[in-house]
Formats: sequence, structure tokens, C-alpha cells
Amino acid sequence: MSISPPAFHDIDPPQRLLMGPGPANAHPRVLRAMSAQLLGQFDPEFTEYMNETMALYRYVFQTRNQWTFLIDGTARSAIEASLVSLLAPGDDAVIVNAGRFGHLLIEIAERCGATIHTVEGEWGTVVPYERIAEAVARIKPRVLATVFGDTSTTMAQPIAGLGELCKAHGTYLYVDATATLSGMAIPVDEWGADIVTAGLQKCLGGPAGVAPITISDRAAAYIFSRRHVERGLLTAETAAGAGQRIASNYFDLAMLMDYWSDKRLNHHTEGTTLLYGARECARLVAEETLERRIARHQQASDAMVSGLKAMGLRLFGDPAHKMTNVCAIYIPEGLDGERVRTRMRVQFGIEIGTAFGPLRGKVWRIGSMGYNCSQPNVLHVLGAFEAALRAEGVKLPSGAGVDAALHAYAKA
Ligand SMILES: Cc1ncc(COP(=O)(O)O)c(C=O)c1O
Repeated sequence: MSISPPAFHDIDPPQRLLMGPGPANAHPRVLRAMSAQLLGQFDPEFTEYMNETMALYRYVFQTRNQWTFLIDGTARSAIEASLVSLLAPGDDAVIVNAGRFGHLLIEIAERCGATIHTVEGEWGTVVPYERIAEAVARIKPRVLATVFGDTSTTMAQPIAGLGELCKAHGTYLYVDATATLSGMAIPVDEWGADIVTAGLQKCLGGPAGVAPITISDRAAAYIFSRRHVERGLLTAETAAGAGQRIASNYFDLAMLMDYWSDKRLNHHTEGTTLLYGARECARLVAEETLERRIARHQQASDAMVSGLKAMGLRLFGDPAHKMTNVCAIYIPEGLDGERVRTRMRVQFGIEIGTAFGPLRGKVWRIGSMGYNCSQPNVLHVLGAFEAALRAEGVKLPSGAGVDAALHAYAKA
């Protein structure tokens, strides 16, 4: 052997409180669940865990959709699976675009070969229903795609009414709820959304790497019409659908639904460790209840906003549509935002977020989500932030942020 073996230490990450726009720290119970031994993906014990995971996420998504399961991959894997399974080359897609993740939807839909029509909004605003309705009525697209909770701008696009609108025009409604699931209300059935996807690393308090998805029967029937099972798995009973074959094998929702059904189609090798983690995340939501969890995020948001304002800082974006798990704060004129972030990390062990695109260098993003969404963490981050800003020469009223947050919590 000409290449000698490298020798590295055991993994021993530093303590960090992750208070950016995600990832947040994972709940210890999730990490414990993930240390359990692997099982084969067709072991009856494991398939029972799969069924339990489906039932748990029906609660988290507030849906009766049978097809509620996990995609192996980070949150964008579920976005890709949704769009590639709904869109074929030449299909029309209307996309609501008011932030980085609206752009991601466009990018993915373009790669599916769709004809893109965007309904644009300024970063920091949401797009009015009437503008979306006009585009959908005029174009009658295969898909209307939008983000509920774009972490790049901290805005939550209203979804109410879009489900009915889409049904009236033969359109499927896709919603990216990566950053908001279990932190804000995501009433999938009430919205009439056809596909909603999420990630674990935000309000669900787990690691990135597996993505919850829920699919309406209507969308599932359409996707099954495009079913083309892998050749090596074909049997006499597996007839191909009449629709065009889905352009991705890994993200083919028809085959993935067959894998999550009693058929247990042999698709990919399931990431059992991540399923254990996702199941535990949802079990924690069920124990806490969605009502209490959503209220916990709202209280932390109110306290954080009160604290930041009391420090004399300005928040970015329309307050009427702000997500409750992340804030964007203008960097005061003349200040180097990256130096403050470094100080927060090095001196206080706290990670806060930078920003993208037009907001780069203009705002910081501070989140409190999932396991990290608690009064002590909100107070820690405000106290540390005040000290870091003061050390960079910003004049601030002493202790005002923590006091205002304490006051907000006392009122809640
Ligand atoms: C709203 C939104 N959508 C999609 C993503 C992409 O998620 P991932 O990085 O897990 O693929 C993110 C990540 O921050 C997000 O906030």
C-alpha cells in the first residue's frame, strides 16, 4: 500500500448554541434514538416503525393523507421529489418568488423542464393572494409552488385560499414548509395543499438528512399515472402508467409511495438511523402537542423581537407576516456584521446567521426553533448579542434587551 492511513482524533465538537436560521441543536432524545442499532428495511420491526412514522407525521402535518412519509435527503430532496414527480418537460409552473427559497423552487422546476411563470414579491414582503390568483387563472399551470416561511427573508407567505384556487384550475399546490413545520400552524388539509414538505433541522429539533412529505390522494393519483417501476424489479403485475416517466429515479414519488405501502417495493436502502431520529422528533411534537409547541415559538418570537427593539435595533421585513422562529435584524451602519458573528461564536459559543443575495452584509438572522426555542436560550442570545455589539463599539442601553424579553415572557 503506497498511501499510509491517516490518524485523526475522535469526533468531539465544541459546544455551540445554534441560534441562526437553522440548523438548530437536536433534542437529546432524538440523538439517543439515532444511536440505536440498524435494522434491515424490510424487517417487520422496521416496517412497523415506518408505519408509526407515517401516523406521527399525519398529526404533525394535520392531515389524513395516507401518503405521509420521509424522503431520504435534506429538505431540498423532498422539494425535488415533489416537483420532478409532478412536472414533466413543457408543463407550466407558477412560482411565488420573494426570497432565496422561491428562487430555489424556480431553479428546481427549470431543471424539470417546466415553463416557469413567476409571481414576484420584494424580499421582506409577501405576495397578495389576488396576484397569485390572477396568474393561476390565466395560466392554469400543472403546479403552483410557494414557500411558507422563507428563512432568507423571515416572511411567511399566506397559504389560505390557494388550495381552492388550485383545485378550480386543475393545478397542484406545492408548499415548502421546511423551516416552519411544528413551529407555525401548517394545517395541510384545511389549506387543501397537494404536497407539503419539511426538514428536521429547524422547528422539529432533529438533524438534517431526512425530509417529511405529505401528498394528497389527488396528487398521488396523478403521480401514479406516471409510474414506471425500475426494469430490474418488474414483474408480470407491474404495469407502467400511461403518463410520462418521472425524470429522476431516486426522487420518483411513485416508486417511493410503493416502497412506503404494503407492497414494500425494493427502492433505495432506507436510512434507518435517520428514520429513528425523525420518528422521535414527531413523537416529541405529539407529546408536547402542536398547540403548545406553536405557542412556545410565538412566545419566543415575541420576547426576541421585544428584546431586539429595546436594544435600539431595527427588524427587517413586514412584521405582519414575520415567521415566529427567526428574525432578521439590520446591521447598524458602519458595523462589520461578520466580526459580530465571530465574536458571538468564539466568545459566547453561539451561532447566529448571515444572509443571502440582496441582504448579504445588511442583516443578521437570529432564530429560536425546535429544541432551542426556550426562554433561557432567548435570554442568553440577547445578553451575548448586547455584549458583542458593545465590544464592537455600538452604544446600547445596558440590559434593555434581556429586560424587555423577560417582560414579554412574564406577560405571555
Ligand atoms: C425555506 C427553506 N427551504 C428549503 C431549504 C433547504 O433545506 P436543506 O438545506 O435541508 O436542503 C431551507 C434551508 O434553510 C429553507 O429554509
